[in-house]
Amino acid sequence: MNKILTSLLSLGLACSAALAAEAAITAVKVTDSLDGIKADSAIWSNAKFSTITLYPQTAIEMNDKKANELTENAKAKKAQVAALYDGKNIALMVKWADGSKDLQSGYASTTYSDGFAVQFAGATAKPQPLPYIGMGSVGRPVVVHLQKANEKVYEPNGNKDVGNQINRQQTGVFGQELADFDAKVASLAVTDYERIFVGEGFRSLTEVKDGSIKSNSSMVYGANGWSGILTRSLKDDYVNLSGTVPVSIAVWDGSKMGRNGLKNLSSWIAINLDGQKQNAAMVTDLTTDSKGDASKGKAALEANGCNGCHQMNAADPKSFMAPSLKNVGGYSTAAYLRESILKPSAVVVPGYNRNAHSNTPWYNLEKGKRISTMTDYSHLDKATVEDIVAYLKTLKAEVE
Ligand code: HEC
Repeated sequence: MNKILTSLLSLGLACSAALAAEAAITAVKVTDSLDGIKADSAIWSNAKFSTITLYPQTAIEMNDKKANELTENAKAKKAQVAALYDGKNIALMVKWADGSKDLQSGYASTTYSDGFAVQFAGATAKPQPLPYIGMGSVGRPVVVHLQKANEKVYEPNGNKDVGNQINRQQTGVFGQELADFDAKVASLAVTDYERIFVGEGFRSLTEVKDGSIKSNSSMVYGANGWSGILTRSLKDDYVNLSGTVPVSIAVWDGSKMGRNGLKNLSSWIAINLDGQKQNAAMVTDLTTDSKGDASKGKAALEANGCNGCHQMNAADPKSFMAPSLKNVGGYSTAAYLRESILKPSAVVVPGYNRNAHSNTPWYNLEKGKRISTMTDYSHLDKATVEDIVAYLKTLKAEVE
């Protein structure tokens, strides 16, 4: 059965509805350079789009009542992703529906913009398990390319009063001054909001500003929503992309006050560079389902008290004891879920509410290392772990 599913997947058939895992994306090799390409460049006609699903990230909750209300019971979103590569660069296009065009306006902190990010696993000396999906983890770095939609703004004090600094009524007298002023404002305006970060876990994100990562991203809004593109080098100090490239995609919705962790996010998805030797083990890991029995897994999970600490479904009461698992099946790989059960401290989700709920910290510091407060389940037999993993993979929001 699994073999049939795998070969269906490799044919690229749209059977993702029945499957938790996403099909691999093919990055098509092009001979023309990808330098300077835009969302509407003709070269994209070579690309093959695949559908992926982005799930609301619900591992941690922000201290923002209104935003939490807006995103309560948020649904998953579909996105179309395609990739191209030349000898030097890889380019990705992500298309997703969004009913309103929300732009970052100046530095106002009360409005939020739409945006997207592409996360790559950072290069490490040794082969490693994939980094944690939320900004990497200790020893497993990620590189995150973030692009926010913004309007051309120049507001040194954030009061939107630059226009009031000149008299617009008397164009006859001040016509030239007005034109000079507008040109000056335009030249000072921020026209792009593109950032690159490296991270090894929550709150460890460091912006890379020294130009050591060569990349370019942009977003255009059209009748079907946003198209975002990112072009970056295949190789630099931080990544070394060849064969099979795992990426994860996130999108933010400004109208839902989305920012930081309030986003929709995919699991790690395999992009195969067409014509190069693929990482078969990784492709299998990322594109096939857990072999466990989900209904046995649900029973085992309850018997082991997992739901005593974790919220499993939106209908269950929220818990401050541990991250909500209600979307964990959407954005986690089976390997990550397995590791979470067997080695809770390998990757630690720190929790945002440490101050508000210091009676239930999610980790303790021991010799500077974060040790999870989760029970160690390494005694569970392999079959039971697989069953629990299969059940966890079913925990995810419906698609909107
Ligand atoms: C004593 C409370 C407790 C129990 C019982 C517990 N967990 Fe956890 N779990 C936590 C805490 C706290 C975290 C966050 C810290 C960390 O990442 O280890 C966590 C993290 C996780 C994560 C990672 C979540 C994410 O968003 O990445 C998974 C998956 C998980 N637990 C599954 C389970 C399963 C399955 C069981 C039962 C076999 C279980 N937990 C039992 C407290 C608990």
